[in-house]
Amino acid sequence: MHLGLFLLAAGHHAGGWRMPGAESGTENFDLIARMSRLAESACFDMVFFGDRLVTTADSPPSMITRPDPLVVLAALATQTQRIGLVATGSTTYSEPYALARALASVDLLSGGRAGWNIVTTVQDGSINFTRTTHPAHDERYAIAHEFVEVVKGLWRSWDAQPYVRDAERGIYMDTSKLHTLNHKGRYFEVAGPLNVTRSPQGEPVLVQAGSSGPGQALGARFAEVIFTAQWNLREAQAFYAAIKQQVVAAGRDAGAVKVMPGLMPIIGRTREEARAKLAQLQSFTDESKAHYVLGAELDADVSAYPLDGPVPELPVDGAFSRRKLLLELAHAQKLTLRELYHQVANSRGHQIVVGTADDVADHMQRWVEAEAADGFNIMPAYFPGGFDDVVHEVVPRLQARGLFRQRYAGSTLRDHLGLPIAL
Ligand SMILES: Cc1cc2nc3c(=O)[nH]c(=O)nc-3n(C[C@H](O)[C@H](O)[C@H](O)COP(=O)(O)O)c2cc1C
Repeated sequence: MHLGLFLLAAGHHAGGWRMPGAESGTENFDLIARMSRLAESACFDMVFFGDRLVTTADSPPSMITRPDPLVVLAALATQTQRIGLVATGSTTYSEPYALARALASVDLLSGGRAGWNIVTTVQDGSINFTRTTHPAHDERYAIAHEFVEVVKGLWRSWDAQPYVRDAERGIYMDTSKLHTLNHKGRYFEVAGPLNVTRSPQGEPVLVQAGSSGPGQALGARFAEVIFTAQWNLREAQAFYAAIKQQVVAAGRDAGAVKVMPGLMPIIGRTREEARAKLAQLQSFTDESKAHYVLGAELDADVSAYPLDGPVPELPVDGAFSRRKLLLELAHAQKLTLRELYHQVANSRGHQIVVGTADDVADHMQRWVEAEAADGFNIMPAYFPGGFDDVVHEVVPRLQARGLFRQRYAGSTLRDHLGLPIAL
């Protein structure tokens, strides 16, 4: 199986930063580097960074500050040797040339370890960018298709090994290996070529997050890793089957795309201890943030709804997939708005496994064997303790069962994922 560490420096549980012994903070690069190296010591495929382009005083601690994830990757490239480095980048609020260039640069300086998590961005970022509107869901995906085409085209500007460096003849590069894109499309006009050459893995790995119908179509066309939120095995199996089917229909090999749901493990020496840990985390959840956080996760203004009342009915067609997921969760578990908020504060709709290290390893094995996942993006509730438990207790069990590597076989992210070099 494949494993990523989803690094959110205040912890993925909304109250995680308040756990005794927890360290937190996006300004704490020492923590970020230490956790990345810990993931590398456990042979994780990648460390993964989400992103947001807006913040407010109401944002929860895990979201309120966000250094640019690509800049963090560049710093981490010098602090790690083998682990893949994945940053989220928005197709709605970036320029393809600038993003293609920055990603290719990180891929080069990390020796072929970079990946791009393609998102279309839910929150209206137009307040911070010189554009007047936040495009609707379908249009964001139409833009994304063209955006990714342009980025891939730019990454193919240079064939491999273009440097000649023949001092005698005065030939620095073989410019016959340079190709100009000349893209003129509906949303973008980019001539190229890119002024960055290929990395040892050819080009960065394409990761994609966005699980609606249009999100799945984008992923099936381009992605090599799909990050998704799933809380129930049956739904996860259906999502996995739908993705693999669309990948094959797009003329690609089903194994060329790895489906990796998020997973929050809460681990104790006994199940009682694990349940007590979750209760302790929940006691730290700040309920004053409930309406704001639910509004962001449901992509709707719910401020008029009382917390102890029912979860409002909201349309799901053409909406952000997290809304559908959370409404299904609320319906299945008959939750009030306050209870739904606590689920969101726990893991934002991702699966949460509370138990012993054996329980967590069993769960992961079951999901992979049941074709619900090819691996997981691990979301520790708090750092470092919540991740120490995974590295020291769960990973050795997975390795003993032959489910996870004991050493890296290669040096690039494509090597770890079993993907061919992109040339
Ligand atoms: C598991 C998951 C993680 C995501 N992470 C981010 C993120 O870090 N930043 C962001 O702007 N959008 C993120 N998104 C949402 C994407 O922006 C997505 O392109 C957009 O919300 C439309 O999503 P949908 O296809 O799921 O409806 C994420 C979506 C999913 C499903």
